[in-house]
Formats: sequence, C-alpha cells, structure tokens
Amino acid sequence: MESESLSERDARVLFHPFTVFNPLHRNLVAERGEKEFLITADGRKIIDAVSSWWLNLHGHNHSYINQKIKQQIDTLEHVIFAGFTHAPAVHLAERLLGLGGEDYAKVFLSDNGSTSVEVALKMAIQASVIRGEGRKDVIAFKNAYHGDTLGAMSVSERDLFVKPFREHLFPVDYIDVPDNQNRESVFEQFEMLCKTKPAAFIFEPLVQGAGGMRMYAAEDLDKLIEIAQKHGVLCIADEVMTGFGRTGSLLASHQLTHSPDFICLSKGLTGGYLPLGATLISGEVAVCFETGDPEKAFYHGHSFTGNPISCTAALASLDLLESDSTRVQLEHINQIFSHWKESFSTLPFVSDARCKGGIFAFDFNTHSEGYFYTDPIKQKLYEYFLSKDILIRPMGNVVYVMPPYCISDDSLQKIEKAILDILF
Ligand SMILES: Cc1ncc(COP(=O)(O)O)c(C=O)c1O
Repeated sequence: MESESLSERDARVLFHPFTVFNPLHRNLVAERGEKEFLITADGRKIIDAVSSWWLNLHGHNHSYINQKIKQQIDTLEHVIFAGFTHAPAVHLAERLLGLGGEDYAKVFLSDNGSTSVEVALKMAIQASVIRGEGRKDVIAFKNAYHGDTLGAMSVSERDLFVKPFREHLFPVDYIDVPDNQNRESVFEQFEMLCKTKPAAFIFEPLVQGAGGMRMYAAEDLDKLIEIAQKHGVLCIADEVMTGFGRTGSLLASHQLTHSPDFICLSKGLTGGYLPLGATLISGEVAVCFETGDPEKAFYHGHSFTGNPISCTAALASLDLLESDSTRVQLEHINQIFSHWKESFSTLPFVSDARCKGGIFAFDFNTHSEGYFYTDPIKQKLYEYFLSKDILIRPMGNVVYVMPPYCISDDSLQKIEKAILDILF
C-alpha cells in the first residue's frame, strides 16, 4: 500500500529525466540496494543490468564506500572551494592525474558529466584566446552525446533531444565516426577541417554511449588525434561513460597512443554514489591559465565544486577499482560478453552483436526506417526484461548490458536466458 501511495505522489509532483509524459505510468519504488540488485518496496529483487545509468561500478550499498562516506560526513560535509581546500580533493586530484598519466597537470572539479564537458570546452576556447590564436570552432562526431547543458548539447548530435534548442546552440562541424568503409575519407575531411584552425575536437573514445553503444577502433581515433594535434586543435576525450574500466582498461584513453588534451570524467568516478565531475587538463593547456593576470583566469565554478563527501566516495571507489579482484571480475565479464557476441549473432532478431570491456550490445531487428531512439520496440523490451526482474533500458532498438562489476554468474545467466527467450 505504502509503495503505491509513494508512486502516486511521485506522479503528481515529479518530472523524471528522459521520460515521455504518461498520466497512467507509475514508477517503481526503489527501497534498498544490494550488490547488483535493486530491491523495490513491494519486495522485488531486480538486476540492475545498466548500472543505474552507467554509474554503479562495485554494486549498490557497498560496505567499504559506505564506511568511508560516513567517516567523511562526521568530519567535513562541504566547504567553499575558492580560498579553501581539503584532503579528499587533493588526494583525488593526485590519484586522477596518476591515472591519466604524465601529460596531465591539473584537475578541475565540477558536478556531473555535462559540467565536466563544459569545463573542457570553455577551457579549450579560452586557451586559444589567451594564446592569441582566435580559434573558436569545435569538431564533433555525428551521433555523439555529451550531456544536457547548452554547450554539451551544442557538440552532441542535433537529434530529438536538442530539437527545441537548435537555434540557441553554437555551430559545430560534424564528422562521421571512422569505420572500414569510410576511414580514408573521414581522415581527409577531418584534416581539411583542422586546417581551418578550430579550437577543439571532442569525442567519446571507443564507444558512443547514448548514440546507441556504437563501437569503433582505437587506431582510427588515434589517427584523428594525431591529425588534430598536428594542427594545434585541442582534443577532448569525454570519458564520462567510458571511464573507470567500462571499455576494459581503467580509461579508454589508455588504449590510445596519443594523449587527449582533456579527459572528462563523472558517472563511475564516485562508484555511482554521488554527483561529481572531473576534467583532467594537460600541462600545455594548464599553463595558459597560470599567469596571475585576471583576464586569463578561468571564471567557472559550481557551488558544490570539490564536495568532500563526493571526493571521498571517489577515493573509495578508486581503491576498489584498482584491486586485483575487480580487474579479474572485469576480465571475466568481458569473456562472457565475447561469448554472447558469438552465440547471440545467430539469433534472428539480432544484428551487430558487439562488446567492449564490460559493455555488451546488439541491435534488435525491427526493420524500421525511422530514428532508432523512438522505435516503439524500446518500451516492449523494457517491460519484457522487467517482467523477468532485469533492468535493461534499451535505447530505441539498441539493447545493451553494462552491469556493476560485482555481478554474479547467476545474474549474468539470468540475463542471457532472458535475451535468448525474447519472442514477440
Ligand atoms: C559520454 C557522456 N558525456 C556526458 C554525459 C552527461 O553526463 P551527466 O548526465 O552526468 O550530465 C553523458 C551522460 O550519459 C555521457 O554518456
């Protein structure tokens, strides 16, 4: 009864993200989390096969992260991050720079994935102003998604999500994601664009997430970064989704030979516990802002910048992420997904089964010509999986699995069986 009334009240007072209004719809009430499971108020134990929007790395309600957060709450909950600092922020910045590698010198903390992208875009443009180069344009991939703030929307695909705002977005040059068919022409077009002296090139390395879990080769991205850097174009790796092991390495950028000038992080940064964004900045860019000239300062910040509880959650998550057991578990998940890729490819409703690291995806064949995201199969598949106590939230006809790394073989088998049993 109680859960019913909560979902009724929810429907009256709340908007939910990326949700088409339906007066009859009632949201599930999550009461508790435990490992890969969400436990609802009516006692259902649902496998969170999408890590609650790609956030959760180590499972829900993890005792180690809980304990670290509780300690931090009893010490310092928040402090203005201008004029003050604190141990969790400094430790976190040092560890993130260690993760990024020697090319990175500074970290700018913010609130979420979109803000980590805004920081990189604004810094790239301002660095060019400071250097007196006057570069302003940005190059992005078609089919990209970088967030919901205006700058992040500007560099994302101009699709349904941004339609009402198109006239308010800044102009961007789009290139195709390279593949076996278009590789040489993409490189050629990209080089021509780079010669026009844009400020930045932004990309989701190796996997375009919200664009439908589209995967592409590290070698091709490396080539693009090489061309961009040859022409002085700053490269922004948006690792908001790909960071922290999702593509098999701790950062997707670790699979590249050329270092991007910025790395944007969020989502798994805190193990999926608390909001936090971080932008890693190369030494060459950082020095532009280190002059002491008020005209060259970076006037950007958020009230919760550097929140100590979020930073503490991130440090705890990194402890777990860097442990041998997480590495072994990630490799194990990847082996299972590689097997799924082979075995599901023969199913009549599956095209383009693919996997990278801890991400598995396929396109559900609907033979529809329209925009993939609005394919009505999305809702049918969502309800089908939920009926089996599995949370899989297809993006249109794209079905994907991106579980917390602690997921058990039992749960993976349950997901496998549910996919094999799809019958409409
Ligand atoms: C690659 C990428 N960048 C940025 C974002 C935006 O992150 P947030 O929703 O935390 O603002 C997302 C969110 O899905 C993302 O996948």
